[in-house]
Formats: sequence, structure tokens, C-alpha cells
Amino acid sequence: MNELTALVSVALLALAATLALIGFGDVAPSALLHLAFAVGIMPLILAAYIYFVPVLTRSGGAPASVRALPWLALAAGSLSFADMLRPGNIGQEIAIAALAAVAATGAIAGWTLARARRAIGPAHPCLHWYLAAALCLVLALAAVLAMPLWPEQYLALKRMHLHLNMSGFIGITAVGTLQVLMPTVAGRPDPGTGARLRRDLPYAVAATLVIAGAAAWRGPLAIAGAALWGVPLWRLARAWAAQHRAVIVSWHGAAPALGVALAGFALMLFHGAVHGLGIVTTHQAPVAFITLFLLPLVTGAVAYLLPVWLRPGPQGPWHAAVRKAAGRWGGARAGIFLCGGLAYALGMPWGIALSALALLMFVVQVARGLAPRHGSN
Ligand code: HEM
Repeated sequence: MNELTALVSVALLALAATLALIGFGDVAPSALLHLAFAVGIMPLILAAYIYFVPVLTRSGGAPASVRALPWLALAAGSLSFADMLRPGNIGQEIAIAALAAVAATGAIAGWTLARARRAIGPAHPCLHWYLAAALCLVLALAAVLAMPLWPEQYLALKRMHLHLNMSGFIGITAVGTLQVLMPTVAGRPDPGTGARLRRDLPYAVAATLVIAGAAAWRGPLAIAGAALWGVPLWRLARAWAAQHRAVIVSWHGAAPALGVALAGFALMLFHGAVHGLGIVTTHQAPVAFITLFLLPLVTGAVAYLLPVWLRPGPQGPWHAAVRKAAGRWGGARAGIFLCGGLAYALGMPWGIALSALALLMFVVQVARGLAPRHGSN
């Protein structure tokens, strides 16, 4: 098993454990969220950069020193989770965790820049999305480091950390990757991808900064931030509707989950903007972010990419068989994720059970796909 597949397993376990623990009132909500985001998602995203950067720069695989960095991020995320499990004030372990995560992210960003400079021809525009997303994570962690220095702004810094992470680090990585991944999954190149990525990054970055600033200090401006994010999302949705509708609205395959992930991200932004006006509470928002957006995104991407990660190189019948098994009833699964996530976001706790069911379906299907009778070459 390589680093990326190991970290996919860690992330799926962390997300499943978060869903299972939501029902237990004695786990601190911030600890639960860091189990999902800092233990599960942060190291996975950093490992995904390390996988995609050589593909996008047409260069060789990353050296072992770079491949070790997501594990440093996993250690940092686990430390933040462990510290938040304890009742009382946030300890100095949090600062150590934040510094370690900054070091891992900064080193990966530096390596990405070096690879982009050495690339033959202009760097793929998706690399700029990854660098912008990594910068958002570094800023989000800087907000954590500023908390003890500026205690009267604790709440503002916490909101800034939250939005720089959700809309910036995760959102920008996800939307950049979806632009490249969907045409690959659909088996139909999209000639507009490069131009869209170049044109839309300034909107995504500006939107994130406005949302984070508005959440911290000036609530109503969050509407402007969400509207700015709406520009790239609308353009992407229109391109998908024109070119990939048939694979997205389908019973099987990875594309339906990617379609639901995009819709889920747009819904979460809308929810965030309405919250900025004080119309709804945030109570369900971070968990709905997991069920409506992250679970469809991760399962959709893994359903398509897992065979390549497990056996890189030329694609054969084994890859096609695993992909087919993992994508079987992918449309129905995506529908269950959507219904479960919406139900939970609208205040119906049983929505979590639906999301957990769809996740279980996915794990069982992948396991069946990898079982020896599918595994013969
Ligand atoms: C090592 C990395 C990290 C550290 C040290 C850290 C630290 C913190 C701290 C100190 C808080 C305030 C907690 C409280 O007031 O109870 C917080 C809140 C939060 N963080 Fe992180 N964080 C890290 C990574 C992340 C990541 C990667 C994400 C998401 C991608 C994230 C999402 C959040 C969210 C959603 C909250 C709000 C929690 C709430 O309202 O209870 N954090 N974080």
C-alpha cells in the first residue's frame, strides 16, 4: 500500500468515526471536527498534492522526504484532536501542532513551486489552485497561532481559521481537482478547463478572503463572498451540464458523486452566507460539510483513482474491473449522500444514518472489487 492509499484509509476511518461519535454528547464538538478535518482530510489533501503535482508537471514521482510530509501533518492533526479531547483551555500542544502543520504544508508548497519552475512548458493552472489552497491552510494555522497572543479576538480568529480552511484550503483544492478529474472520469476531454482554471482562481481566492474576513468581523459581507465563489461554481456547473450530464445523471460510476460534491459545496456556501446574516445557526454546518460535500467528493474520487494508485502504470482489465465494482450503483449512493446530508443540514439527525449507510456501501463495494476473484490480471 502506498502513502496515498494508506492516507485514504485513514481519512475514511476518521470520517466514519466522526459520524459514529456524533451521537455521543460527551465528545467536545471541536475535537470531533478535528478528527474529521485535521486527522482525516488535511493529510489526505497534502498527499493528493504530492500525487498530482508530478502528473501536472510531467515529472517523476516525489522523493521519500516529500512523501513523508503528510505523515507529519497527520501527527499534527492527531495532536490537535487529542488536545481538544481534554476539557478546559487549549494547551500549548495546539501551537506545536499548528507549527508542525505549517512546516509540512510550507515544505510541500516549496517543492510544488520548484517542480512548476522545472516543468517543460507552462505549468498546469491547477497547480496555482493547489498553491493558493496551501496558502489558505497556512493562514488558517497562523490564525490559531495568533489566538493566545490576541485573546480578545479569539472568536474572530477562530471563525477566520474555520472559513480559511473550509472555503479556502478544502474548497479551492476540491474545485480545482474536480475541474481536471471530471473530464478524466467521463472519458471526454474538456478543452475549456485550462482557461476556466486561469480565469476563476482570483474569484475563488477573493471570495475566501472576503468570507473569512466577514465571518470574523463583518457578517453581512459574507453574502458578497459567497456571490464571488458563485462565479466559478456557476461556470463549472454550466460546463458540466453541457458536456457531462449523461455520466453525472446516471445509476453507476464515479461522476454522480462528483456532481453531488459540487452541489454540496455550493449549498454549504449559501448556508454560510445566510448564517452571516444571522438567519440560521451554524450548529449543523461543519457536519453537513462532511456529509454533503466531503463524503461524496472523497468516495467519487477514490472510486475512480484507487486502481491507479494501487497499481500505477499501464491500465489493464484489473483496473477497469475494480473501477466498475467501486462505481456500481454510484448514482444511487450519491443520491443517498445528498438526501442524508440535506436531512441533517435541515435539523433531522437521522440524516447521519443515511450518510453512514452510503459510506458503508462504498467500503463494501471497494472491498469486493479488490477481492481476489476481481484481482486476477
Ligand atoms: C494542526 C492543525 C490544526 C490546529 C492546531 C487547529 C486548531 C484549532 C483551534 C485551536 C480551534 C478553536 C477550538 C475551540 O475554540 O474550541 C479550531 C477550530 C476549528 N478548526 Fe482547527 N486546527 C487545525 C486544523 C484544522 C483543519 C485542517 C480544519 C479544516 C480543514 C480545521 C477546522 C476547524 C473548525 C471547523 C473549527 C471550529 C470548531 C468549533 O466551532 O468548535 N482545523 N482549530
